[in-house]
Amino acid sequence: MKELLESALAEVSEVDLPNAQATEAFRIDWLGRKGRIKDLMAAFKEVPGPDKREIGPMLNALKQAVEEKVKSAQDHFNRAEAVEQSGEDFTRPSGAIPVGTHHPLSVVRREMVGIFQEMGFSVSEGPEIEDDWHVFSGLNFPPEHPARDMQDTFFVQRDPDLLLRTHTSSVQVREMEKRKPPMRIIMPGRVFRNEAISARAHCMFHQIEGLYIDEGVSFADLKQTLLHFAQRFFGPDARIRLRPSYFPFTEPSAEVDVYWGLKTEVDKRITKGTGWLEILGCGMVDPNVLEASGIDSTKYSGFAFGMGIERITMLRYGIGDLRAFFENDMRFLEQFSGER
Ligand code: DAH
Repeated sequence: MKELLESALAEVSEVDLPNAQATEAFRIDWLGRKGRIKDLMAAFKEVPGPDKREIGPMLNALKQAVEEKVKSAQDHFNRAEAVEQSGEDFTRPSGAIPVGTHHPLSVVRREMVGIFQEMGFSVSEGPEIEDDWHVFSGLNFPPEHPARDMQDTFFVQRDPDLLLRTHTSSVQVREMEKRKPPMRIIMPGRVFRNEAISARAHCMFHQIEGLYIDEGVSFADLKQTLLHFAQRFFGPDARIRLRPSYFPFTEPSAEVDVYWGLKTEVDKRITKGTGWLEILGCGMVDPNVLEASGIDSTKYSGFAFGMGIERITMLRYGIGDLRAFFENDMRFLEQFSGER
């Protein structure tokens, strides 16, 4: 009985069922009213009591193997039949797969970077996980500066010296350490701040940083560079104004506004009634920053600037909510399919 069951199990596992008819014949042969399983059940009754415990499970396993074989073959042939009856031609080539589009932030980043490349700036990038030196200390932030607070900065738990960069100014420090002047670099990248997410703020966004260091670089060079940028980006009639400001790493420092106009209610709202919109921070690189990176501040001077890509993209396309950039909603993204 044991040998019989073993050879039956081997036979079932090897049997080939090429079509629905063969499957049905196999089913009747094994599971039918006069089938082989029935016979084996009858024979099982004759097995002496003590041996039943070994033979019983073998018989069950065989029955299960037969049932599974039948079921999977039936499923397969039923599906094939359904396809045939559907009248569809499944060999036809499918429709074109939609290709993605450039993200609006990429469109604007590329255009901005391109304008600076025309002026002879080269492009560099740095790491998003940074150390305190490149984000703060090397940029002349005093130890007690509020930007270093946990409230504003994401720290890496494993190592309190590591953090997610809060601005792309960190790349300036890396480049100044690595190169010798003259240098003219544009540095795009993603930055992180510990902010509650809303229509106007997010915990991540993108910046473009600029740095120009050489002998005799002046504030006039800075202003003219930014005016040229504004006119290439916003149009030849664009006007800018510089307001005094403060950053630890520049002296003097300024914020730059572009004239937006006051024609509509929206213009009034986004410019707070002034017609001017702030687009970037900038200044002459503080001599402390040059020296910290090993550049002789008695010989060289330079300017730096940094601006948010989201801000400028929202202005360009009239996007009212910052969160739209990171939600990957196709209905939003598809609207930029014509942009390059
Ligand atoms: N890092 C500043 C920020 O995140 C922006 C900035 C201001 C960058 C002045 C500069 C600069 O390079 O000179 O708000």
